[in-house]
Amino acid sequence: MQNTETEIPFALPLTGIEEEEAILRVLRSGWLTTGAEAIAFEKEFAAFLQNPGIRCLAVNSATSGLHLALEACGVGPGDVVFVPSYTFTATAEVVRYLGADPVFVDVAPGTFHIDPQALEKALKQQHRGKPKAVIPVHYGGLSCDMNAIMDIARRYDLKVIEDAAHAFPSVVGTTFAGTIGDAGVFSFYATKTITTGEGGMVVCRDEAIARRISIMRSHGIDRTIWNRYTDTTASWYYEVVEAGYKYNLPDLLAALGRAQLGRAWELLAMRQAIAAAYDTAFGTNDCFLLPPTGPGDARHLYPLRLNPQRIGISRDEFIQKLKENGIGISVHFIPLHIMPFYKNRYGLAENDFPETIKSYQQEISLPIWPGMSEAQISRVIAVVQSIASVAG
Ligand SMILES: Cc1ncc(COP(=O)(O)O)c(C=O)c1O
Repeated sequence: MQNTETEIPFALPLTGIEEEEAILRVLRSGWLTTGAEAIAFEKEFAAFLQNPGIRCLAVNSATSGLHLALEACGVGPGDVVFVPSYTFTATAEVVRYLGADPVFVDVAPGTFHIDPQALEKALKQQHRGKPKAVIPVHYGGLSCDMNAIMDIARRYDLKVIEDAAHAFPSVVGTTFAGTIGDAGVFSFYATKTITTGEGGMVVCRDEAIARRISIMRSHGIDRTIWNRYTDTTASWYYEVVEAGYKYNLPDLLAALGRAQLGRAWELLAMRQAIAAAYDTAFGTNDCFLLPPTGPGDARHLYPLRLNPQRIGISRDEFIQKLKENGIGISVHFIPLHIMPFYKNRYGLAENDFPETIKSYQQEISLPIWPGMSEAQISRVIAVVQSIASVAG
């Protein structure tokens, strides 16, 4: 454990008595795997989204959810799926799980998001397979330009699977990020905006997609274990209708999710307050470029960029100085097209996606987590400003 007086962690979950009671409730119930808690979590998540007809399916990670969503949308061998290079490997690896190939797309300058113009350009090129889907990533909880992406998807007959791993709850216009495409996937990993330790939620409106995901997340079996337990007739009987996966969210974690969901707005407000303090402090310093954001963004990350015209040291040297001062940081993301697997398999060069590389080389993710004290926020600001004043 870190000493949070002298060292400020990059991320910490905020849990309390509600979460502890939720775990105890499940432990005492005798039913630990997927059951009544997971069903309640799905219903409460759907109610939160206030989107009539939305279907929510709890899964054991966003990675599983992305895999299931792509599979249910018909992605398979010989298909290509467009993804930003500027993301975590989960976004692209699930495409490979299905025998399809990811095609990387650059980010729009300064946005961290897949560039709609670059996507359309990529669609006009020849590919090794059939263009089938696109996965926009709501990076850091900052929502993508979904109008532009949905317009392209309609014109090119692409399925849209939103990677909303960072984006609960990000409001886009009158709706939530993750609810706009054919399916959306949220993550409840330990550092995310609400957490179950590990976990995720797939949302969609199409009944056939929801049904397929529901079956495939539990071994391709046509009945859930809970249904077999609670149904009084032939509870032992089930049929395997597909070779599925084991991606269900256990009740122990679903109960944690319900407690976290109950405080989602409170957790969001805490993150937004930290982001606002950083914006105010760094917005007047031309050594920095602030994250592009809208009022409804979830602020999972605070991706500060160093302005290369004003800073005399590299991003890595800046990070080293932050570490020496006990500030936990991360970098989001190391682009996928320079990762050995993707680079070698698809013959990619670093400068194939120049905006992605530029963002990567400038970005530092600062600590932003609910429960950060005023003193911790002030310390991060003071350390960042003082490094910049020497290096600027
Ligand atoms: C953009 C993005 N997509 C997907 C994932 C996968 O989430 P999970 O850890 O819940 O599988 C992550 C994880 O951090 C992520 O950053």
